[in-house]
Amino acid sequence: MKIAFVGKGGSGKTTLSSLFIRHLAAAGAPVVAIDADINQHLGAALGLDEREAAAVPAMGERLPLIKDYLRGHNPRIASAATMIKTTPPGEGSRLVRVREPNPLYDACARPVELDGGAVRLMVTGPFTDSDLGVACYHSKTGAVELYLNHLVDGPDEYVVVDMTAGSDSFASGMFTRFDITFLVAEPTRKGVSVYRQYRDYARDYGVVLKVVGNKVQGPDDLDFLRAEVGDDLLVTVGHSDWVRAMEKGRPPRFELLEDANHTALRRLRTSADATYELRDWERYTRQMVHFHLKNAQSWGNERTGADLAAQVDPGFVLGEHLVTLSDAGSSLSPTA
Ligand SMILES: Nc1ncnc2c1ncn2[C@@H]1O[C@H](COP(=O)(O)OP(=O)(O)OP(=O)(O)O)[C@@H](O)[C@H]1O
Ligand SMILES: [Mg+2]
Repeated sequence: MKIAFVGKGGSGKTTLSSLFIRHLAAAGAPVVAIDADINQHLGAALGLDEREAAAVPAMGERLPLIKDYLRGHNPRIASAATMIKTTPPGEGSRLVRVREPNPLYDACARPVELDGGAVRLMVTGPFTDSDLGVACYHSKTGAVELYLNHLVDGPDEYVVVDMTAGSDSFASGMFTRFDITFLVAEPTRKGVSVYRQYRDYARDYGVVLKVVGNKVQGPDDLDFLRAEVGDDLLVTVGHSDWVRAMEKGRPPRFELLEDANHTALRRLRTSADATYELRDWERYTRQMVHFHLKNAQSWGNERTGADLAAQVDPGFVLGEHLVTLSDAGSSLSPTA
């Protein structure tokens, strides 16, 4: 299952993603955590110190390796150089799973120990506003998008992405890659305006969008969010002393998080789990092709000097049916 946390700068995306990741880890669920936010703070929010956080390799700097691995033996993709962030998988491509070992995780992921178990952390690396343009060939989030487009994930495993609600995710199609998107909004006009923008983009693509109110202090705040967001308001979170203690570098055990916040996190998981029932691999594949053709036309063909529409494998549909055999193989040799 793939889950994004988006929202305005400073709304609490990183804080709430990190709490949700801790919640999943505490329940023993396999998690890949991805920091794709402009300000890279997810590692710190998961308890890494500065040195440890800085040592997590940047996916954005390993794009050639990521592309080469995912391209596999796909005859439609002549070289990593012609693979752009939206290039979809096809026959011969390598697909990735949440739990397996693979060279992509070796290069980009690092384990982070949390109460309950370890999660894998990957980070895009820091990026600037200029990385957020439509035409950016070197887009940092492109590495994440390629990963998501080659990922075959099941219902009981989680990829959680801490992400900026920027134009980049709309242009590339990244915003359509998730089973559910949690939009973190403070009870302010700016907070809800990001929600409206996201909702308007998302409407035509079947994106499941839910608002998580953050820093909600009382009935006034709650009324405001209810009035502005209506039924899309899933749950609200108030000020957390646990979060504050964590920010001071003294994280208490996760079970000591406030009860109301544990309840909110359970609610997020239940909602996410419920969306898996709606999973439509055909639509998922169709949408990646749609955005690939759009990006190919608007900048990719010109940039690579190739006709990138030819990368689309017309009969290919991503899904669990493609990995069942290799799964059986890997379970026979668990140390491989
Ligand atoms: N519920 C909360 N209780 C206490 N502090 C909070 C809460 N939510 C967020 N904060 C604090 O507010 C600040 C901003 O939160 P956070 O970094 O999670 O936001 P963000 O949306 O990821 O920001 P950015 O856009 O800079 O990445 C942090 O210092 C964080 O600890
Ligand atoms: Mg952040």
